[in-house]
Amino acid sequence: MYEFTAPFQSPSGSPIRELFKYLAEPGMISFAGGYPASDLFDVDGLQQASARAYQDTSQCLQYGPTDGLPRLKHELINLMARRGVPCAPSEMVVTTGSQQGLDLLLRVLLNPGDVALTEQPAYPATLQALRLQQANIVTIPVDAHGLDVDYLATLLASGTVAHPKLLYTVPTFANPTGATITRERRIALLKLAVQYEFVLVEDDPYGDLRFSGETVPSILSLAAEVPGSRDWVVHFASLSKIVAPGLRVGWTIASAEIARRCVIAKQTVDLCSAPWTQAIAAEYLADGALERHLPRITAMYGRKCEALCDALQLQLGDALQFHRPEGGMFVWARLNAAGSGGASGMDASALLQRAIENKVMFVPGNAFFADKVDAASLRLSFAAPGIADIEEGVRRLKRAYGA
Ligand SMILES: Cc1ncc(COP(=O)(O)O)c(C=O)c1O
Repeated sequence: MYEFTAPFQSPSGSPIRELFKYLAEPGMISFAGGYPASDLFDVDGLQQASARAYQDTSQCLQYGPTDGLPRLKHELINLMARRGVPCAPSEMVVTTGSQQGLDLLLRVLLNPGDVALTEQPAYPATLQALRLQQANIVTIPVDAHGLDVDYLATLLASGTVAHPKLLYTVPTFANPTGATITRERRIALLKLAVQYEFVLVEDDPYGDLRFSGETVPSILSLAAEVPGSRDWVVHFASLSKIVAPGLRVGWTIASAEIARRCVIAKQTVDLCSAPWTQAIAAEYLADGALERHLPRITAMYGRKCEALCDALQLQLGDALQFHRPEGGMFVWARLNAAGSGGASGMDASALLQRAIENKVMFVPGNAFFADKVDAASLRLSFAAPGIADIEEGVRRLKRAYGA
């Protein structure tokens, strides 16, 4: 009856959002979503910022410029400078969450069939956005140090993939693997972007959430070391994981040429991101509240991560392998015996079914793969549950596994 566009003829929704229906079950402990802990929100700080923002009702209740409120852009430019990245207002677009920034960029860059390289496993909403844009997705494997840049270099040199338009990566505390790309690999990636002329998309919502190890500079900041690379980098950042996702404040940093086109694409999406929450974010940042808040949340996430990893080691050490992340929100684990049959040989999807019966949830790894099945892997987020729930959740997982 209806004649839908090609990508919407039989679209599939987000596999993670499909799991949300179980969240409402009483007593459920969830390691599933990438939700920040609600009890760590800086409620007072945001309330004060909100009261200050509301003093200028003609700003926060009115439409604003499509590229963002100038006052917020000023604060975000200062924040990026503290992160080692100078940028001009014409290179920054405030978006309704960083997710919107990705959507705008793909609309600006990709024609149907264009090659988009992405790390695998990858953040599913990016895979979904690429599919809706009818991109030809080509995946690059990752290891404990993030994207396998040697594999990428060999692939590009072989000429077997058509000219890629972009490469997408979450280089710091990746979703889903928690891995961080080394500085050397970042430099190598920048050189490849210059050589093969593709846009290097750095999605960085978790970079500030480091609780151990040494800081690795963002790809965007390292562009200063690789001549000609800065204009090939598009950087997405967000207040969602470090302040509150309810603000829906993200921002894109790109060459002025790309940024201007993203602004035009955004005009038909929402005219502008909500000036009200932008004004609150501007007040919050101007007050220095983020600098006070970050150490509190990173310390807590560090403790939660340790609690999850210690419990997994203790309860399921024989069944699972995983790396301890140095920041972010995720632990990526693999079931040793998946596919070998019997209770201890169950794969992650079967384990999830039994886990839900035991009132605990996680995301099976398949959700993060574009072109292959990985029955053995799973993603566990330690951010939202409290420490006691993390420990109880792992005990339930052990019961579900039958170990
Ligand atoms: C890697 C990655 N990018 C982007 C987002 C979306 O963030 P935002 O709330 O800023 O749209 C998420 C949220 O889970 C994420 O994990």
